[in-house]
Amino acid sequence: MDVILQPAPALTWRTIGGILDFYVFLGPDPASVIEQYVEVIGYPAMPIYWALGYHLCRWGYHTSNSTWEVVKSLRNYRIPQDVQWNDIDYMDQFLDFTFDSTKFGTLPDLVKDLHAHDQRYVMILDPGISSVQPDGSYWPYDEGLRRDVFIKDAEGKTLIGKVWPGLTAYPDFSDDVTHEWWHENLQRFHEKVPFDGLWIDMNEPSNFLDGSTNGCPSSSLENPPYTPGILGGLLRAKTVCATAQQKQSIHYNMHSLYGLMEAKASASALKRIVAKRPFVISRSTFPSQGMYSGHWLGDNRSQWKDMYTSIAGILTFNLLGIPLVGADICGFSEEPQEELCVRWTQLGAFYPFTRNHNAIDMKPQDPTAFSPLARTAMKQALLLRYSLYPVLYTLFHHAHVHGHTVARPIMFEFPKDVKTYGIDKQFLWGKSLLVTPVLDPGVDYVDGYFPEGLWYDYYTGDSLHSKGEDLRLHAPLDKINLHLREGSITPTQAPNLTLWVSSGQPLHLVSALSDDGSASGDLFWDDGESIDTYENNLYSYIIFNVTQNVMTSQVLHSNVEATYITVETAAFYGVKQKPSRVLLNSQDAAFTYRANQLTVGELSLLNKGVYHIIKHKYSQCC
Ligand code: GLC
Repeated sequence: MDVILQPAPALTWRTIGGILDFYVFLGPDPASVIEQYVEVIGYPAMPIYWALGYHLCRWGYHTSNSTWEVVKSLRNYRIPQDVQWNDIDYMDQFLDFTFDSTKFGTLPDLVKDLHAHDQRYVMILDPGISSVQPDGSYWPYDEGLRRDVFIKDAEGKTLIGKVWPGLTAYPDFSDDVTHEWWHENLQRFHEKVPFDGLWIDMNEPSNFLDGSTNGCPSSSLENPPYTPGILGGLLRAKTVCATAQQKQSIHYNMHSLYGLMEAKASASALKRIVAKRPFVISRSTFPSQGMYSGHWLGDNRSQWKDMYTSIAGILTFNLLGIPLVGADICGFSEEPQEELCVRWTQLGAFYPFTRNHNAIDMKPQDPTAFSPLARTAMKQALLLRYSLYPVLYTLFHHAHVHGHTVARPIMFEFPKDVKTYGIDKQFLWGKSLLVTPVLDPGVDYVDGYFPEGLWYDYYTGDSLHSKGEDLRLHAPLDKINLHLREGSITPTQAPNLTLWVSSGQPLHLVSALSDDGSASGDLFWDDGESIDTYENNLYSYIIFNVTQNVMTSQVLHSNVEATYITVETAAFYGVKQKPSRVLLNSQDAAFTYRANQLTVGELSLLNKGVYHIIKHKYSQCC
């Protein structure tokens, strides 16, 4: 299908077939249009907590020991890392469900070690299953043939294409039998390597040949009267034949669903194997994908313009109901300058899904590969992300339940401000955390647009009143500009090396007061990994409010079993005068005041050591 944007303004669809269902979402505003759309296609899954940590990957670690070295090196520098990944090089001759026992012989030990450090392991799987192994030597293919799970050509023979392992057959994920076979393969591999999540790639499905080893038959399906503007100019280019046969229909009708159906099979298999929320990241996507997987934006380059365009990609997938999305931080192909990799790690710390990934033969680009200055700046950016975990997790809850975006275009919050419409260099987390990354080399400043209102510097609490202006901000190499919108309360935590540890830390609430002194915010909290906690009432939901110098928290839903968290400190930005007293639950509390900022500490101690926000209400009066 082609979709053509007309200057009229109008859209023209040119489609070569299919069943056409039209929905018109009336909004009226952009955010409501997206909520209505996501209600139709299906709400995105609530991610497992560690999905929101830092992921490190590359193609070309060469051995499990060299992968392990990088993990140890990050630990050594105390750089947060939740997940280590492996690309196809872990496999024996690139065969799915195998690992190279020579080069990756210590892989099971590496995974054990990751688990012992509250870290997780994810590896790649491509759909192509090698069809040329000696009979009886490769269970996935032998068993697949026996159960008849592969896509067939127009004549009914197994269609053979070519991917990393050489000649391959393609599982037909439109058939439930294939899902069961896929699950058994994963289960068998999990017994050897207890992986935690899956990276599903090459699932367009991708083929190094056009169609198959035998090409494709000549037919009106292969050569329709009109061919949309696609890669290679042919439907079969770099994929399987349109006339190939799948259980539910011919491939012509199923092509775009391949990645969606593989994600569904993978998520449900993982759920059975690990009995937790499944973590799957897919390259190919289709509407409804967010129910089963997240997405990375595919192969990019280590160039400043690729970093810049990633923002539009991240925002687009948030509109498409796939909020768990990120681009390859520091770039996949080519080698980044150190400065680019620092700036990209800062921006990437605000991708909903944060993964550094690199192509084979490229120099290492993990944070420990750079100078102490760069490494420290990257570490700071990641610690910042980890400290914002409570707000990020809560935003994912709203995506899961209401279809809200996590990373959000500024225009969604300011639909009446036309100056926000074209902004693709800044974005928001939720409605109030404004991210203004540096996207150019050699500068220590960044220009950003601030919609009308009061904004606070996240780090200093300094306020700025904007009339709807472009402002130049100081941005040395170790800083990403972050601003809080007036009227918001942001829950944060002291960061640590993994989210397992940091998500157990007490909360620090940051209230950014509006001119009239009010603010509000919320927190969704559960055990971070059980399936359907919201649906099964195993969560807590708390709203925070400040009005007329009193802060209250209200527990709208609580489940003590599933939730344990305390509030330790609270900061209030925009308190115009130094208060004479601060009361916490009617008792005097210690506080500091400096330049419009009030900080109240040791809330938990005041409450005799443990302060359960799920059990108590508190107020502060200034
Ligand atoms: C594809 C993927 C890339 C991966 C490579 C090797 O190009 O997009 O991320 O590293 O295959 O598996």
